[in-house]
Parts: sequence; C-alpha cells; structure tokens
Amino acid sequence: MARLREGSVPSHTLAAELLLMHVLGCDRAWLYAHPEELVDPGKAEEYFGLVARRVGGVPTQYLTGRQEFWGLEFEVTSDVLIPRPETEHVIEVALARIGQQNLRGGQRPALDGAGLRVADVGTGSGCLAVALARELPQAQVFATDISPAALAVARRNAARHGIADRIHFIECNLLDVFFDPPPATHLSSLPFDLIVSNPPYVGRSEAELLPREVREHEPAEALFAGERGCEIYEPLIGQAQQLLVPGGVLVLELGYNALEHVDGLVTASRGWSRISVTQDLAGIPRVLAAERA
Ligand SMILES: C[S@@+](CC[C@H](N)C(=O)[O-])C[C@H]1O[C@@H](n2cnc3c(N)ncnc32)[C@H](O)[C@@H]1O
Repeated sequence: MARLREGSVPSHTLAAELLLMHVLGCDRAWLYAHPEELVDPGKAEEYFGLVARRVGGVPTQYLTGRQEFWGLEFEVTSDVLIPRPETEHVIEVALARIGQQNLRGGQRPALDGAGLRVADVGTGSGCLAVALARELPQAQVFATDISPAALAVARRNAARHGIADRIHFIECNLLDVFFDPPPATHLSSLPFDLIVSNPPYVGRSEAELLPREVREHEPAEALFAGERGCEIYEPLIGQAQQLLVPGGVLVLELGYNALEHVDGLVTASRGWSRISVTQDLAGIPRVLAAERA
C-alpha cells in the first residue's frame, strides 16, 4: 500500500485491496478474516508486479479485468472505456421514461420491455446494452460500436450475463446500418422505442486536462469527439430523430460542459418534446432525455 500511496495513486487503499483480492482470488470478507495468512512468493511477486503497473498509471480495472456497473460485473480490457458510476443515470432515466410512457398509455407499468426495440450507440464494454437487456427481458436490443475489439468484449459480457442471444452487436458508425441495412437480414429498418448512448465527448483540446490514467490508457475513440468534444451529438440526434417512433425516447450522457450544445441541438430541431436533464451526484448535468414529437 505504501508504494501506491507514495506513487500518488488515487484511492490507494482500495487499489491495494482490489489488486490483492484479484491475485488471491478472494473477496474482501476473506481478506480481512485471514490477516494471519501468508501469501506465497509467486503470488506476492505477481501482486507487486501489478502494484508497479498501477503506480505507472494503468487503471486498476485494466489490471483486474473487471468493473461493476448496475450491480453486474463486467469484463474490461484496454479496448473499452471503464464503465463509470454516473453512466448508471442513463439506465435510471431510460427505465423511468419507459415506465411513464406505459402509465400515460394507460398500460400497467410492467417493465418487461415486451415489444420494445432498444439501441445502444457506442456500446464499449456493453454495460448499457447488457443492463437494459437484463432490466427489460422482453425487449430486442441492438448495440453498435466502431471498434471491433470493443464489440468482442461486449459480446463476452453479454454471454457472461446469459443474454448473448438477446443483443445484436453491430460494427458501424452510430446507427448507419439501420439506414442502409443489408438485404434479408434481421436488421430491418423498423423504428426504435428507445435509443441510449454514452458517446465520446471529450475535446482533443482538453486532453491534457484528463487524468494520466484516462489519457494514456483508455481508448482514444471512446474519449474524444473532435476538437471541442461535441462532434458526435449532432449526427446522433439527427439519426435518432429519424429512427425513433413518435413518442420514442432518446437518452444521452452529457460531457461536463455539453448541456448547452446538446440542449440547443434538441430544441432547435423542434422534433422533440418532454426534454429533461438529470444531474449526477456531483451536481453536473449528466443525462439529457427527450421524446420524439
Ligand atoms: C464513452 S465510450 C462508452 C462506452 C459504454 N457505452 C460506456 O458507457 O461505458 C464511447 C464508445 O463509442 C464508440 N464510438 C466512438 N465513435 C463512434 C461512432 N462514430 N459510432 C459508433 N461508436 C462509436 C467507442 O468505440 C466507445 O466504445
């Protein structure tokens, strides 16, 4: 732990615990219940190797290969963004919106997703697609990403949670494939009821402001969207407007300074109603939701 502290690793106690639990293959309860346990030399060497890499800037999650999101454990590799807690607000907002629609439509507020078509744009580890597919067991889920390596991780996460057959993973830019579907496939141009996305939203000009762990280790295509970080929102909102059913819901994660830009896009197009903004636990406007008018 001292090496992590001296290396200025944030949350160094937690990092030390997670790395040791990973090497020993145990949980926290076992770790604290067995203070007398001697660690065998091979395991100790492995642990100190991981500590050195953590001090060198590699995020703990890439060393342990996992991160929890929405109460589920996800595999993460350096091909995918590490799922963040604030992204869980996307799921909360999406589920709340679907529930409200059911009530408005006079249906019972059953949230099994029967008949719903859902898309997750820029799925990365698959955390949003998998969490939604678990919460809406009757929904059909589509998840896109431009990174084939990320999609491989997302597919493994879907399999890990027993829903590999419920999510269609597609390599493409945004939702392009639904505008020009290959003939005779399941990718019909039927509209969606819900589109969610946590797109890249950091500006290249802001790269130096990112923590070293993020800047040097997380995939650039998951972080950056042009010079100002706003490049993805406009085409994504345009595509969503064409692909959502009337009343269909778009839920977007926002960069810390993206609200004005995204709200401006949605308001200017006049194609949206019931626009709402949800703050994260730090008070930052984090999620914008809107319904196709
Ligand atoms: C911020 S990460 C989000 C990953 C995951 N949804 C999450 O919340 O942890 C953005 C993801 O979008 C993908 N991406 C970037 N540009 C894209 C594009 N034009 N079309 C589709 N996916 C894109 C990246 O490869 C990355 O996996």
